[in-house]
Amino acid sequence: MKIEKSGVLKLFPTYVWATQLAAETYEGINRDIRSRIDLIGQQRQDLEHSGQWQTDQDLHLHPELAGLVDVVLKTARGICESLTIDYGDLSITGCWANVSRQGYAHRQHIHPNNFLSGAYYVDTAPGSDAIAFHDPRPQVGLIVPPARNQDLSNPDRITLDVREGMLVMFPAWLQHSVPPNMSDRTRISVAFNVMFPDFGTRMASPLWKGDTST
Ligand SMILES: [Fe+2]
Repeated sequence: MKIEKSGVLKLFPTYVWATQLAAETYEGINRDIRSRIDLIGQQRQDLEHSGQWQTDQDLHLHPELAGLVDVVLKTARGICESLTIDYGDLSITGCWANVSRQGYAHRQHIHPNNFLSGAYYVDTAPGSDAIAFHDPRPQVGLIVPPARNQDLSNPDRITLDVREGMLVMFPAWLQHSVPPNMSDRTRISVAFNVMFPDFGTRMASPLWKGDTST
C-alpha cells in the first residue's frame, strides 16, 4: 500500500477555557466574595444547617463582586476575539454562589439562553476540587468498545481539577456536573452566565442577501 499523505481531522472541537489567577489577583477577589457570602449567612442563619444552598442570581450586581465581574468580562471578550465573533457587547445575565458541604453534588445540567457559562472557585479542598464535562455527542454512547487506554479519545466525560482562584468558562450548552464534596470543608464556587445583550437587534438577522428587494 502506497500512501501519499494521511492525517486525522479533529472536527467540531468543544472548548473549555481554564484560567488560574495569580494569588495576588485572586486573594482580594475571594476576600470580597467571602464577605458578601458571610453577610448572607448572617442574615439567614438557618442556612448553617443546610447541606447545600445557592444565592439569588444577581450576585454580580453587588460591589463585592466587582473584581470577579471584571475578570469574567475580560475573559469572555478574549474568548469572543479568539472565536472571531462580531459582537457589540457582552453582559453577565446571572451570577450566583454555590455553597456545598460534605456529600453534596450538582447533577448534570446546561445553562439555557446564554452564550457562555462558567464557574469561579473561592473555596476548594482535596476531594471538592473538580468539575465534570459530559460528551455533547449522545450518539457516541451507542457503541462503546472497551479501550485499553482510557485517554482523552474515549471517555464519556472529562473531569477537570480546579482550585481557588481558578476561572473555568465553557459554552452554555455543554452538559456539566459537580462530583460530591468528599472533603469536610465547605466548597464555595460562583457560577455565572454571559450573553450578548443586543443579540436580537444586532446578531439574529440573516447574514445573506435576497435576490430582490421587498
Ligand atoms: Fe452549571
